[in-house]
Amino acid sequence: MKIPITKTTFGKEESDAIVKPLESGWVVQGPYVSEFQSLFSKFTGAKYSNATTSCTTALHLCLEALEIGVNDKVIVPSFTYVASANAVEYTGAQVIFCDIDLNTFNLDVLKLEQLLVKYSDVKAIMPVHLFGLCADMPKIMDLALKYNVKVIEDSACGFDSWIGDQHSGTFGDFGCFSFHPRKSICTGEGGMIITNDNHIAQKISILKDHGAAKSDLERHNEKGGSLLPDFTMRGYNYRMTDMQGALGVCQMNKSSAIMSGRRKVAKKYDSALLNVDQLVLPQAPYNYVHSYQSYVCIFTDGESLDNLSIEKIDRINLKRNIFMEKLESQGVATRQGTHAVHTLSYYKNKNNFKDRDFLMSYAADRLSIALPLYTDMSDIEFDYVIDNMIKALV
Ligand SMILES: Cc1ncc(COP(=O)(O)O)c(C=O)c1O
Repeated sequence: MKIPITKTTFGKEESDAIVKPLESGWVVQGPYVSEFQSLFSKFTGAKYSNATTSCTTALHLCLEALEIGVNDKVIVPSFTYVASANAVEYTGAQVIFCDIDLNTFNLDVLKLEQLLVKYSDVKAIMPVHLFGLCADMPKIMDLALKYNVKVIEDSACGFDSWIGDQHSGTFGDFGCFSFHPRKSICTGEGGMIITNDNHIAQKISILKDHGAAKSDLERHNEKGGSLLPDFTMRGYNYRMTDMQGALGVCQMNKSSAIMSGRRKVAKKYDSALLNVDQLVLPQAPYNYVHSYQSYVCIFTDGESLDNLSIEKIDRINLKRNIFMEKLESQGVATRQGTHAVHTLSYYKNKNNFKDRDFLMSYAADRLSIALPLYTDMSDIEFDYVIDNMIKALV
């Protein structure tokens, strides 16, 4: 049997919807992108949603909208997908990495405050809601207020992630989402920026559209559309196509079924793996609603995670890798959760980082393991994963 790490949830609705823009001939951002944006605002409770080509370009646009550039600093967790840090690099600003809390895989707020004290020229924090669990946003927003910095939430994994009744991406100045196939809802590639600030939402619309004061659709629908509009900013082309918008509308319309299917599989993992000593399972703090964009455990091999050292992590890492290889040989796909960005050659060489500089991120990189999870995972597939995990652990 072959069990992939994830699967998209496309059906007949998406197949029917994606041809509609082709039939109408309006394939760039248009009515479907507008509808997708409205549905996204309704779901998250944000006032404004702006679709983009990806979460990476969404993050870049937010930094540009805040006029962050050379001589500025932005704090990013050291355990995240490289795109979070890359978006800051595009602007010429300096990435300041902050280590994570291994219990949540998210920013360690004590270390975050130490960095805010150390660097007075930090302009923004980019908390990441990794694997679908919100970072400690109440504390991060307190710090943002205290140190007068902006907050761009990297909510690439955070669709349907909540603290109480507040959706990820609505705590800070912006929230950025991804619709890549590894994410819970998918438009091929794609991203979304949410904000409650009208002025900044307008700026984003202009920046993502070459800096044009008026969109193609607005111009097309107005008198005098034969003349080009003014271009008021140095913009980008980060517009979503209407085919992707059509997919997004379908995915939003069935998002409650998608998400309840994913949560059901996560619950099954929670009970099936409860007594497995070699794994620490994902936990959500009280009042946090995990969306399980990925179900990520820490492989401990039965050892305690106290007093972690590089040597101890490396020793357990060898066993984790053998465990993952055994599963792969049985057709069960797993992945490391994500990477410790300070260990990647570009960032390591640029900053002369050592692995131990962000030790919890290093541990998360070397010890995490994401298990297969998708909405329509059958009982037979699930049991096959668990049986092979148990076999591979003995
Ligand atoms: C935390 C995080 N940030 C940003 C991104 C980039 O998203 P996209 O592929 O939509 O650019 C990803 C994608 O995996 C991610 O996991």
